[in-house]
Amino acid sequence: MKVRKAVIPAAGMGTRFLPITKTIPKEMLPLLDRPVIQEVVEESVLSGIRDIVLVTGMGKNSIEDYFDISPQLERFLAEKGKESLLERVEKVSRMVDIASIRQKEPKGLGHAIQCARSLVGDDPFAVLLGDDIIDSRTPCTAQLIEVFERFGKPVVALQEVPLEDVHRYGVVQGEEVEPGVFFISRLVEKPDPDQAPSRLAVAGRYILPPEIFTYLEATKPGAGGEIQLTDALDGMAGKSGIYGLMFEGQRYDTGNLLGFLIANIQYALNDEELGPQLLAYLKNRVLQGGE
Ligand code: G1P
Repeated sequence: MKVRKAVIPAAGMGTRFLPITKTIPKEMLPLLDRPVIQEVVEESVLSGIRDIVLVTGMGKNSIEDYFDISPQLERFLAEKGKESLLERVEKVSRMVDIASIRQKEPKGLGHAIQCARSLVGDDPFAVLLGDDIIDSRTPCTAQLIEVFERFGKPVVALQEVPLEDVHRYGVVQGEEVEPGVFFISRLVEKPDPDQAPSRLAVAGRYILPPEIFTYLEATKPGAGGEIQLTDALDGMAGKSGIYGLMFEGQRYDTGNLLGFLIANIQYALNDEELGPQLLAYLKNRVLQGGE
């Protein structure tokens, strides 16, 4: 069955970015001149998914406004003859259809996905976590869909991480069944290094069948006292099996200040216009010994 919907959880308070997140959702922080969430939404569109289910919280209305039309601004740009800006603004509002639902309590990622149940319905769906930006030739979600269509089981994105970092991720135990594709027998959320079944961590991309909701319902609070998607997937792995894919691409974790800065620098360096200027500046700084 085709994957036509994507759930993007966006209810988190963004405490790592306080004080700016007092009034600006962390999803709206900039990656160059666009909000971070646009990168994730574009990945979804490039993977063939235009129906987005946004799980939001208080103070997040600007995300929906951003992807809505803006008649006054569009009229202004048209009257001023600013065609290329108008085109960029219109492109954003035509990109996707967004339905949103509120997660009323901060009970974790698993709970956020549960909140989306009525909007997702009985079809398989993708989950894209907004903190994880993945730069790749084929969009990461499209890579996962390809595996999902062949095996008909849930698929998670995998990447190898240093042992000292496993405590930040869902970590899997699996067997490689074809190059880069793993049959997963167990998942553990945020394990201590000595308890981790491997160094293969779940990056923030998932393709899930609707049966996940039954498993989520039965999931008790886990790591951090939250309902963890990883724990529900562990239940599924034990029953019907799930797969993982070592995706091709570069992942940036924009959920912390350093990762957010690195993503911005990297995207700027890749930009035709900004790249050479920023590189010249950085080289100069390094030659001056960081003065
Ligand atoms: C979440 C998931 C975790 C996953 C990670 C990827 O954790 O719970 O399993 O590995 O995203 O970024 P969070 O970063 O929200 O703590």
